[in-house]
Amino acid sequence: MTEALNIALLGCGTVGGGVVKLLYEQRERITTRAGRPIQLQHVVVRDLSKPRPNCLPRERLTADLERAVKDPSVHVVVELIGGTGIARDAVLTALRAGKHVVTANKALLALYGREIHETARQAERVVAFEASVAGGVPIVAAISQSLAANQITSIQGILNGTSNFILTAMSEHGQTYEQALLEAQRRGYAEADPTLDVDGSDAAHKLAILAQLAFGVSVAPSAIDRRGIADIDSMDVRFANELGHRIKLLAEAWLSDGLLALQVAPVLLRASTPLAQIRGSANAIQVVGDVVGETLFYGLGAGEMPTASAVLADLIDLAVGRAQRTYAGLKLWSLRDAGSALRDADTVRSKFYLRLIVADRPGVLADVCRCLADEQVSIASVIQHEALDDEEADVVPLVILTHAAPGGRFRAAAARMASLPGIKGPSVWYSVAD
Ligand SMILES: NC(=O)c1ccc[n+]([C@@H]2O[C@H](COP(=O)([O-])OP(=O)(O)OC[C@H]3O[C@@H](n4cnc5c(N)ncnc54)[C@H](OP(=O)(O)O)[C@@H]3O)[C@@H](O)[C@H]2O)c1
Repeated sequence: MTEALNIALLGCGTVGGGVVKLLYEQRERITTRAGRPIQLQHVVVRDLSKPRPNCLPRERLTADLERAVKDPSVHVVVELIGGTGIARDAVLTALRAGKHVVTANKALLALYGREIHETARQAERVVAFEASVAGGVPIVAAISQSLAANQITSIQGILNGTSNFILTAMSEHGQTYEQALLEAQRRGYAEADPTLDVDGSDAAHKLAILAQLAFGVSVAPSAIDRRGIADIDSMDVRFANELGHRIKLLAEAWLSDGLLALQVAPVLLRASTPLAQIRGSANAIQVVGDVVGETLFYGLGAGEMPTASAVLADLIDLAVGRAQRTYAGLKLWSLRDAGSALRDADTVRSKFYLRLIVADRPGVLADVCRCLADEQVSIASVIQHEALDDEEADVVPLVILTHAAPGGRFRAAAARMASLPGIKGPSVWYSVAD
C-alpha cells in the first residue's frame, strides 16, 4: 500500500465532525477512491471537554493548533474553524510549512483569496475549496474543470439556504418574514444572529469566489451590489405569486461586452423557471457557457454530511494528485485578473417590479407614470390592488411592471416618486428575471 495521506483537521464542529465520521465510517471506500489511506493525525479543537463523534480516538484530539499545523508528518491541513482571524493565520502557516490546504471557509477566500493563493504558489502547494460554495453541490469542480472549454457567460445562484428557506415559507405558507425566520431558527437552518445569511453577505462571499473561478475577476465582497431579504413584505411575496413569479435571493454574474455585472438581491423569477422551484434550504446554481448552453446544479448547500462530502472530495483529489495539477493550472487570484472590469450597476438593464402605497384618488397614477416616462422607463403593466384594510380604505397598493431599463434610470424614477403628494409610503422594487 502507498504511503498514507496524513491530515491535520482544524475544527471538529458541524463540518469537522462530519469529516471525522466519513473518514472512519467509510474508510474502505475512501481508501479505494484515494488509492491510499487518508489518515487523521490531529483534530484540533478549542474545548477538549466537548463531546465529539464516538468513532474519533481521543488521542487524536488536541488544542495545540501550532504543533498540529507544523507537524512534519502532516501533508494536508483541513481548515474548518471558520472566520478570518485564527483560520487565516493557520492557513498561511500551513502553506509556509509545506502543507496543502483544504477549506470550507468562503469568508476567508473571498476576503484573503489573493494572499492565500499567492502564498500557496510560492510554497508550491495548493488550496482546495469545493465546500466553500454551495456545500455539497460540486460547483467548484464543475466550473473549474468540467466546463473548462467554455467561456461562462452567466451564473445565477441560490447560494444561501437560510434565505431560501425563509422565502419559501413566506411564499407557500403566507408567513411574515419574522415568522419564517423563527421557524428557520427552530429547525436549525438559521443562526441566533442570522445577519450574514439574510443581508446577502454570505451569498456575496460565495459570488466573489465564483467570479474568480468563472471569470478570473478578483472582487471584494463589499464591492458587490447587495440587498438582503430582511425587509421583504409578505404583501410583495403575495403580489409576486399572483403575477406568476417567486421572489428568490439570487447571486448573479453576467458577462457582456467584456464587462462583468455582479449582484446579490431578491429578484422576481417566473414560477416555471428551474430556480424559482428551488424550495426550502436547498441551493442551486444555473451556469451558462458559450459552448454547453444552460446547466443546472442542485443540492444541499450546508449541513454536516453534505459539506463533509465536498471536503472529502478535495482530500481524495489531493491523495491521487489531481488537485495539485488542477489548482496549479488555474492560477487563481493571480495578477492575470488585474485588468478585468466590473459593470456599473446603473447600466445593468432589467425589468422591474415596483410597488407603491398610493392615495386612492385621480391623478396619482398619472404622476407616477410621468416619473417613469421622464427617465425613459416604459411600463409593461399596472395593477391596482384593493385597499389593505377598512381602516386604510383611502390608500391602495399599486404594482407596476416595467419593460427592461437601465437600473440607474429606474432608481432615479423611483427616487422622484418619493416626493409626490399621493405616495403614502416608501416604494418597494425588485428586478424581474424571466
Ligand atoms: N455548517 C455548515 O453547514 C457549513 C457549510 C459550508 C461551509 N461551512 C464553513 O465551514 C467552516 C466551519 O463551519 P462549522 O459550521 O463546522 O463551524 P462550527 O460548528 O462552529 O465549528 C468550528 C470548530 O472550530 C473549532 N475552533 C474554533 N476556534 C478555535 C480555535 N481558536 N482553535 C482551535 N479550534 C477552534 C471549534 O472548537 P470547539 O468545538 O472546541 O468549540 C469547532 O470544533 C466555516 O468556515 C463555515 O463557513 C459550514
